[in-house]
Amino acid sequence: MITTFPKDFLWGASSSAFQIEGAWDEDGKKMTVADYNSFKKSHIQADTKIASDFYHHFEEDIELMKELGMKTYRFSISWARIIPDGDGEINQKGIDFYNKVINKLVESNIVPFVTLYHFDLPLALVKKYNGWESRDTVHAYERFTRICFKEFGDRVKYWQPHNEQNLIVRVEERINIYDEKDSLKIDRMRAQMDYNMCLAHALAVNACHEIIKDSKIGPAVSSSVTYPLTCKPEDVHAARMNDNFKVYYMLDMHFYGEYPGYYLKYLRERNIMPYMEGGDSAILKSAKMDFIAVNYYRTNCAEALSADENHPFGTREGTVDFSMYGLFKMSMNPKLKASEYGAAIDPSGFRVALNEYWQRYRLPIIITENGLGAPDVLEDGEVHDKYRINYLRDHINACALAIEDGVKMLGYCPWSFVDLLSSAQGFRKRYGLVYINRTDNDELDLERIKKDSFYWYKKVIETNGELE
Ligand code: BG6
Repeated sequence: MITTFPKDFLWGASSSAFQIEGAWDEDGKKMTVADYNSFKKSHIQADTKIASDFYHHFEEDIELMKELGMKTYRFSISWARIIPDGDGEINQKGIDFYNKVINKLVESNIVPFVTLYHFDLPLALVKKYNGWESRDTVHAYERFTRICFKEFGDRVKYWQPHNEQNLIVRVEERINIYDEKDSLKIDRMRAQMDYNMCLAHALAVNACHEIIKDSKIGPAVSSSVTYPLTCKPEDVHAARMNDNFKVYYMLDMHFYGEYPGYYLKYLRERNIMPYMEGGDSAILKSAKMDFIAVNYYRTNCAEALSADENHPFGTREGTVDFSMYGLFKMSMNPKLKASEYGAAIDPSGFRVALNEYWQRYRLPIIITENGLGAPDVLEDGEVHDKYRINYLRDHINACALAIEDGVKMLGYCPWSFVDLLSSAQGFRKRYGLVYINRTDNDELDLERIKKDSFYWYKKVIETNGELE
């Protein structure tokens, strides 16, 4: 059978530690920023304490991955399980847990694909150093990554340093900015943290290549494709700048080891240039990533937004989809339908995004997140999620078209394997191919139930991408 997808294409699925593991304080693990943020909402939705309880169900879950035929599993390691205080003692029980997970994956012929930091900085580093604002956290992170490469590198060859650095820095609570109200101070802190994370990324890339000879490592980017609201030239520029400020300033730093001009101009004019050291540039330039991992859910739309006396150039409004005075203002795309959670559904935009990353950097691409969040309903022990199958089919088809366009792709991992804790909507918004029988208020029996999308995706994998 001839398909567009390469023979060794890595069909998989994804997750992250704090969203599935539970056991938030078991076997020596300590609190993370993700735990802290989720506990603030414990009275209204599920939190990280139990989540999908992967910690106690990992064998059963990996059996299901095997049944699905997955070639790879993209998951994250919780830094605070391995080093509970971020930069202190090593916790052998944390290493043991991930060894069991990795061994079970390898025995099941599933390639482990590991993210080292998915929103869950050890909270101790916030208390000691204000998290990423300090170089101490950069050094702590490098040490953590080196430990992981040494402990797991004989079996894990694919790595991602940070999940969606370009999104983490937009959401204040993810970078532990809670009480500060002065927007200039917030932007200054954000710029420093962002820069320090770039440095940490480069150190991890270099350490990975040094310790694991046949390894591959690259960033996971929260994708942005922005359409101009009208064909006015100012709106076209605004749309480009939105993508630049949401994605490319950071990818350019990872790829070239320096920020692009428009971003430096913003840092200068906003007066928030981060502190850099003489030796940084050599580190940043020497780190050569092997692929780009793309997390794609939707596209955006923007129009021009001028600055004025009250809103000087570079000031922001909003968080994930922030607008920036002097450059761009976000709006809804009138031509696209949105999911019930407001995300514009746009498989064509996916093809555009994949071509764009390929043309800019000529690095192979793996999709590490793509999926539809919906309030699935369990009916007589079954979940009929036709809407998810439609979403996945259209997006996998977009990957096929991109491959035909010449884009080199390594694999595709929908978000998510099992239902998990969505940051804003707990267990009301589900993404999994496997249903977890629990609600926000009640853990029920945590039974794993295969959804219709599970059976559909199994066929996709079996046929290497033949779509029904
Ligand atoms: C991605 C994150 O940005 O979006 C995931 O990497 C997250 O951790 C996913 O779950 C979906 O977002 P949400 O808010 O619906 O959970």
